[in-house]
Amino acid sequence: MTRTVLVTGGAGFIGSNLVRFLRRERPDWTVINLDKLTYAGNAESLAGLRQDPKHVFKCADIVDPEVVDALIRDHHVDAVLNLAAESHVDRSILGPGIFVETNVGGTQVLLDAARKGRVKRFVQVSTDEVYGSLGPSGRFTETSPLRPSSPYSASKAAADLLALSYAHTFGMDVVVTRCSNNYGPYQFPEKLIPLMIANALEGRKLPVYGDGLQVRDWIHVEDHCRALLLALECGKAGEIYNLGSDNEWPNLQIVRRLLEILGKGSELIEHVTDRPGHDRRYAIDAAKAHAELGWAPRIGFAEGLKSTVEWYVQNRGWWERVRTGEYRTYYERNYGAR
Ligand code: NAD
Ligand code: TYD
Repeated sequence: MTRTVLVTGGAGFIGSNLVRFLRRERPDWTVINLDKLTYAGNAESLAGLRQDPKHVFKCADIVDPEVVDALIRDHHVDAVLNLAAESHVDRSILGPGIFVETNVGGTQVLLDAARKGRVKRFVQVSTDEVYGSLGPSGRFTETSPLRPSSPYSASKAAADLLALSYAHTFGMDVVVTRCSNNYGPYQFPEKLIPLMIANALEGRKLPVYGDGLQVRDWIHVEDHCRALLLALECGKAGEIYNLGSDNEWPNLQIVRRLLEILGKGSELIEHVTDRPGHDRRYAIDAAKAHAELGWAPRIGFAEGLKSTVEWYVQNRGWWERVRTGEYRTYYERNYGAR
């Protein structure tokens, strides 16, 4: 079936990968891309799509109901994938307000517009961080209690609950996905992996929070995009799907592996003051997505990490251009006092 899908946040890391993935995997579909181009959104990440008549870019805010209503109506959108968000935990500690405005308020505006426009499915793209922190054992399942620890994860949990409430109350077709930490090309260099690669390439220190033994469960962005397409096409209305690659690593080991791939020494590592309220460990049980969506990740970590490093080496201009202005101010605020 030919479709018109609205992807929000399509100039960000996962969104830009998703838009390219959808155009490749579903060439008949039209992708409407709504993005405000905040500091994290980058039109350069969509450069290859400029001449594509089935990719329509709209620079606007998801909290603006007039724009969102018109976009859904005028393009006869039949599915929404909501990725637009403020996405960085450290920034949510420095300033939580915009996280509530965009992640909660924006999701509500999109849900209302989707309902009014009789959109057939709304995929709310969420995170494992809504479950909070794990001890040394166990994994998050879809029935794990919501215990978000940061303003970022609390705002994502609120958005998930709003989306599910629209399914329950209005009978809207909503699917929620909760994925673990993504890595891959086009990730903004404030997140662990691209930050460490960029700093190492510039000979700067690599700031590891606390003891560096916090554990994250890493998935390649392309595997996440494939799961989102399956959630859209095969997910069951009203359901939640956890997504992860069964790939847990302590931060310090990731940083050491990156240095090895880059041929740099571990003297660049600098332990700095820990993040307030830092979650110790995330781990995802993705059995439900395997069984019900027929999804399985395809990209191994050794291969994925190597190709990601290569991408940052070959696309130095992309990340050097964003590491100026606003980025410098943020970096100084976040790391200056540690
Ligand atoms: P990102 O920060 O790279 O991109 C977010 C995009 O949203 C940017 O292009 C930005 O311009 C846009 N945006 C922000 N506010 C907006 C607004 N008010 N209106 C319109 N556009 C706006 O984030 P990402 O890492 O690509 O994450 C995308 C989504 O996936 C987020 O919802 C995030 O919570 C979720 N997620 C991310 C990860 C991860 O590891 N990165 C894991 C699980 C879930
Ligand atoms: P991040 O990429 O910010 O993702 P999240 O906090 O959403 O999991 O961070 C991943 C892990 O790396 C997290 O445990 C915090 C840690 N980290 C550092 O040690 N130093 C850094 O400079 C950054 C950005 C993150």
